[in-house]
Amino acid sequence: MAIVSLQDVHKIYPLGKTSVHAIQGVSFDIQEGDFISIAGPSGSGKSTILNLLGCIDVPTDGSVVIDSHNTRTLSDREITDLRHRFIGFIFQSFNLVPVLNVYENIEFPLLLGKNSRSRAERRDWIDHLIDEVGLGEWRTHRPNELSGGQRQRVAIARALATRPRVVLADEPTANLDSKTGEKIIELMKKINRDQGTTFIFSTHDATIVDIADHVIRLLDGRIVREERR
Ligand SMILES: Nc1ncnc2c1ncn2[C@@H]1O[C@H](COP(=O)(O)OP(=O)(O)OP(=O)(O)O)[C@@H](O)[C@H]1O
Ligand SMILES: [Mg+2]
Repeated sequence: MAIVSLQDVHKIYPLGKTSVHAIQGVSFDIQEGDFISIAGPSGSGKSTILNLLGCIDVPTDGSVVIDSHNTRTLSDREITDLRHRFIGFIFQSFNLVPVLNVYENIEFPLLLGKNSRSRAERRDWIDHLIDEVGLGEWRTHRPNELSGGQRQRVAIARALATRPRVVLADEPTANLDSKTGEKIIELMKKINRDQGTTFIFSTHDATIVDIADHVIRLLDGRIVREERR
């Protein structure tokens, strides 16, 4: 069964006296363990789709079903809970907390929600994540002492901290040079392969699209092509 399913989704943004029909009848399924890219030019609707998948927004029409829950029928509290339990986010501009070091940034989401684990268990898990993204030597560095690629590695580890089933990334490589961007996507791919975490990322970079096993190509709010490799 699909872990995420969109059925004839529309998103209309009111804009003054007019409106923008940003998503115009999009349907697709994502299976658990997918490594999927939402590709398309600027304005095609990539961020809008990721916001719908991340329960940051709800569709104007159609359904977004995540882990068998239709996001339009959930209360705010249920949405917050689903998001925390199920989804990890990676941002284009990293969004790390500047005064926290690498370890503390990764720990941060674990301090927000319910946390049944002991401190020692938490420390072992964060140390494991730090090793996983190759930042062992930078454990106590702050974001401003790291390169862009290293910052995005911290953001990946932070997204994984709550053990989400799905990680969403809106143009995670846009602020990186192309070589570093490719390495970041390859790291995500490795985690996808090793742990089965589902990754959904948007990009307009063709080289990075090639690393995905499932590509959804958007243009003007519609799917123009879907490829599975
Ligand atoms: N909050 C909003 N209010 C009004 N229109 C919006 C809003 N957000 C997005 N849009 C419009 O919806 C369409 C899709 O925007 P979206 O941000 O999803 O595109 P995108 O593919 O992510 O583009 P980019 O590659 O530039 O990030 C665009 O026409 C945009 O202007
Ligand atoms: Mg965007």
